[in-house]
Amino acid sequence: MAPPSSSTTSAVTLKINGDKHTLSVDHRTTLLDALRERLDLTGTKKGCDQGQCGACTVLLDGRRAVACLQLAVAAEDREITTVEGLAEADRLHPVQQAFLDLDGYQCGYCTPGQICSAVAVIEEHAAGWPSAVTDDVRPEAGVPPLTADEIRERMSGNLCRCGAYVSIVQAVARAAEAQVSQEAAV
Ligand code: FES
Ligand code: FES
Repeated sequence: MAPPSSSTTSAVTLKINGDKHTLSVDHRTTLLDALRERLDLTGTKKGCDQGQCGACTVLLDGRRAVACLQLAVAAEDREITTVEGLAEADRLHPVQQAFLDLDGYQCGYCTPGQICSAVAVIEEHAAGWPSAVTDDVRPEAGVPPLTADEIRERMSGNLCRCGAYVSIVQAVARAAEAQVSQEAAV
């Protein structure tokens, strides 16, 4: 049996916003540090660096993940979407547009994480996933209404030190409505 490798670095290929990036990383490098320090994708923010604030939220295969608790080497072969990858050419993602229109931010530091989280929240809700405040979780009850309480609960992993929560909740509700109308029009 071959002796275990003593190397502490590996080449990793990360697929981010549709583009592949190959880099050599220390095995302890988090996805957050790889994005920010190695790939200049600084839209994803570092707040607590310990999984508690949500500022570093990205989408991994469409689901929310805090990039500070994810090792870059473990993100190989996953579809990584950061806030830089949400807009289509000059057209903002409906969640980005709603945050802009409704002032869903103050300093803006938490905003990329809030927006990535909200994109997944809307998908999770539309797919019928219940939350801790959903009254009736039976499958036959269908998709619960996306009330302000539902949005607050589902977005509770994203902290905002500026306290822009009222506008953030409104922006998520507006974006969810826009998505429903868009889907109905197709
Ligand atoms: S920086 Fe990742 S959760 Fe706070
Ligand atoms: S807008 Fe400043 S931390 Fe949220």
